[in-house]
Amino acid sequence: MSDFWSGYIIAIIAINIIGCAALLFFTRRKKSGAEENETTGHVYDGIEEYDNPLPRWWLWMFYITIIFSVIYLILYPGLGKFEGVLGWTQTKQYEEEVATADEKYLPLFEQYSAMSIEDLQNEPEALDMGQSIFANTCFGCHGADGRGGIGFPNLTDDEWIYGGTPDDIVYSITEGRQGAMPPWGETLGEEKLSAVLHYVLSENEVERTYREELVEEGRTTYQTYCKACHAEDLSGNPAMGAPNLKDDVWLHGGSISMIKNTIRNGVNANMPPHDKILGKHKIHLVAAYVYSLSHGDEEQSN
Ligand code: HEC
Ligand code: HEC
Repeated sequence: MSDFWSGYIIAIIAINIIGCAALLFFTRRKKSGAEENETTGHVYDGIEEYDNPLPRWWLWMFYITIIFSVIYLILYPGLGKFEGVLGWTQTKQYEEEVATADEKYLPLFEQYSAMSIEDLQNEPEALDMGQSIFANTCFGCHGADGRGGIGFPNLTDDEWIYGGTPDDIVYSITEGRQGAMPPWGETLGEEKLSAVLHYVLSENEVERTYREELVEEGRTTYQTYCKACHAEDLSGNPAMGAPNLKDDVWLHGGSISMIKNTIRNGVNANMPPHDKILGKHKIHLVAAYVYSLSHGDEEQSN
């Protein structure tokens, strides 16, 4: 906030408080000897308005409110850039509360961290804790139910870009993941771009209409430009973050025009690292919850 706006806000608040005080002061009943129940002289449909003074307790309440606001604005932030003499901030309060909660839960966190993610699948309480961490930290990107959306992977299915073992999941959450697919539009030109698209469609498990006459050229293009990341047989490569192109899971949209668009323009999907945000105990719990999303049924049949 600039000094100008800070000063502007302080001036408005000061004028308001002084204005309220002045209003109260000048409108308090001047004629002390006036008769009770004098009317203002206004009549509405035969109803007259008394001109009685405000009750005393009412008036005092106003004064107290004004005094309170002045004290409050001295102690707490509220006046433009002035931080208040107590130095209170929302962040500090939040951090203190988190620290207290973490301390309280520490023994529980340690107990769960000592268990494997597979074993935690039988600890409903641990999964509940994982779920609430997920709801706080992950749902903005992966959706409340973990099903994701375009650009954000579904965490409930069996398809993993980076692998679905407990270690892979913990790694994804801790270190984050950056999937970079370069844009191919310029390198390939329109003709090869279409060819490689139709080759990918021809290899996909979903039956689609594709242009048979382009497939051969597309295959050559694929082997030249794509197989280093997506593997020779299109099955993908978790180490590169390059997804399987044979299945019907399309992170960046599965319509023909969207697939073509992804190949033409490339994509950068960014999963931020959470080691600083959550710490290892919470990552362990949220990973256990994520693991349960795709392993729940197995668990029930046990
Ligand atoms: C800012 C958005 C964002 C947030 C917040 C986020 N993620 Fe992600 N996450 C992504 C994106 C985007 C990817 C895909 C990265 C890629 O394709 O390279 C991803 C990938 C993943 C993967 C790997 C999926 C796979 O198929 O291998 C896991 C596991 C995951 N996220 C779990 C989580 C958990 C748990 C949280 C909360 C602690 C979380 N994410 C928070 C955006 C986010
Ligand atoms: C440098 C490695 C690399 C090369 C080379 C590469 N890709 Fe990719 N590709 C990726 C990565 C990584 C992603 C996933 C991006 C993300 O979401 O994190 C991806 C995603 C895609 C997707 C989207 C998949 C989905 O689920 O939505 C398509 C389609 C695709 N690539 C096709 C191709 C084609 C065709 C070529 C060759 C012309 C190619 N890629 C070359 C790394 C590569």
